[in-house]
Amino acid sequence: MCGIVGYTGKNSALAPVLEGLRRLEYRGYDSAGIALTLEAGLPLWVEKRAGKLGNLEETLDQGVPTSHSGIGHTRWATHGGPTDTNAHPHLDNDGKLALIHNGIIENYVELRLALEAKGHHFKSETDTESVVHLLSDARKEHGGDLAAAMRQVCAQLRGSFTLLAIHSDDPERIVGARRNSPLVVGVGDGENFLASDVSAFISHTKRALELGQDEVVDITPTKITITDLAGNTLPPNEYEISWDASAAERGGFSHFMLKEIYEQPKAIADTLIGRMSGLDSSITSGLELVNINKVVIIACGTAYHAGLVGKYAIEKWAGLPVEVEFASEYRYREPYVDAATLVIPISQSGETMDTLMAMRYAKSHGAQVFSVCNTNGSTIPRESDAVLYTFAGPEIAVASTKAFATQLVAMYLIALHLGTVRGLLSPEFLAQIGDELAELPGKVEQVLETVEPLRELTRKFKDSTSMLFLGRHVGFPTALEGALKLKELAYMHAEGFPGGELKHGPIALIDEGTPVVAVMPTGNALLTEKMASNVQEVKARGAVVIAISDVDVPAATHLIRIPTTHEFLQPVLSVVPLQVIAYEMAVARGNDVDQPRNLAKSVTVE
Ligand code: G6P
Repeated sequence: MCGIVGYTGKNSALAPVLEGLRRLEYRGYDSAGIALTLEAGLPLWVEKRAGKLGNLEETLDQGVPTSHSGIGHTRWATHGGPTDTNAHPHLDNDGKLALIHNGIIENYVELRLALEAKGHHFKSETDTESVVHLLSDARKEHGGDLAAAMRQVCAQLRGSFTLLAIHSDDPERIVGARRNSPLVVGVGDGENFLASDVSAFISHTKRALELGQDEVVDITPTKITITDLAGNTLPPNEYEISWDASAAERGGFSHFMLKEIYEQPKAIADTLIGRMSGLDSSITSGLELVNINKVVIIACGTAYHAGLVGKYAIEKWAGLPVEVEFASEYRYREPYVDAATLVIPISQSGETMDTLMAMRYAKSHGAQVFSVCNTNGSTIPRESDAVLYTFAGPEIAVASTKAFATQLVAMYLIALHLGTVRGLLSPEFLAQIGDELAELPGKVEQVLETVEPLRELTRKFKDSTSMLFLGRHVGFPTALEGALKLKELAYMHAEGFPGGELKHGPIALIDEGTPVVAVMPTGNALLTEKMASNVQEVKARGAVVIAISDVDVPAATHLIRIPTTHEFLQPVLSVVPLQVIAYEMAVARGNDVDQPRNLAKSVTVE
């Protein structure tokens, strides 16, 4: 949700703010805006436009005054449609204070009514505008101290927010704050940055500072001050960013998604490094696993599908009951959870609000939390007892691919760790599965070398109205992920089913020419046979069947051959053709691959 960037320093602010917005556009792209400070006393320079960042950039061709400090915002609309007026930044009635916001201010209506009664004039339908008016009054009360004003305002707000503000009378200063929504500081030389995530300033500095809940940050080109809401100065928590700038660029690929699909072998290898013979205590020391009697996996979207695969592995290898829950449903049904429950939140961004809230619920009821996350310094790992980082690198395309592959790997590693702690796995098995894991990057590479014909095949179904995905065992969550990818990218009706459920309803959807993707790698002879029967059944009713398998499937119309691996590891291989189908379908239908309509990569509102 909404990308936020701020720059103050020795250089012109426009270029780093625009570059940051470009890199953060995956977070939201229905409008964009910039506010720059000029010399003290001169009015702010503000430009904002509905639509993609390109619309804003076109208006900048008419010239932008020199400025060394500014803020930028790319929006995913919640309150108020995507119009020029609702775009951020929002200004106070003096036109001197500009504010950008990510999140939702839950008490904005009562604030707005009170502010209007005091004479404030509102222009937009957003929740954000209440904050800028409130901040304007608070700044006056605090004699022009914007950081003190921000602390006072944050204490009055309910909901989630990242806020950045600038004032024309104090042109070098940017003040930010966060609660349940991300904000990181980039530490430069004579320049400093604020952003929703490090990719915004990655080409300028590798030094970053974490910000905790309800913290306010005040930056100038040479000084960074972090305080809590009571005004106490807090020590900075600095870390080095391990990604380099090229990782956040397209590097010759037509889309980020395609690049990220092809980065999967490396992402998997990086996530496995040093972990194949077990997780070391630097990762798990915060956990007491011997007495746990239940595992609950909480996640959203693609991460949820990784969790479903994790359930099969943990139940089999660690002998523990596992529930996999949509994070958004979990806490509101007040589930039973206690100190013997291990909760595993899975999140690429580490900021998904539903996952964070579900995790906090479980923690407050005594559960231990072992998160799986791809983003260093984000909220979910910071609040966990332990974290297993995935090393997918920055994932820019909204539709998740390489992060999913690494989440699967993380689930296998956790399942093996739990099985080892519980003394259930033999050295022979651990050696065998370790070998299989080590071969995954090479096998994904092989899949990628053979998907070219699939790209042409997919285009034949460009005008289909629906596509179905079938699978059994771990092939079922893989089918769900294939259907989700297609919905996200091709805007096409798609559903994933367990093969065995077909006859209980979904088979009625099959019509002459309906494309059906059957995820049916071997590994379990009984299930292979049953999937083969399912293929026969849909084909007999007119379906065109694309089988993904490591053996011949005589009944299928088309076969995508993948290498053989351990039964439980097969999703890592079989999801790759499904990603390619979704990618190719989006291209064929003329859709925006990296920024599909209505979606955002990081969903930081409930
Ligand atoms: C959004 C993204 C999905 C992602 C989900 C969970 O819906 O569009 O691709 O799977 O959020 O995100 P997380 O960062 O928690 O993995």
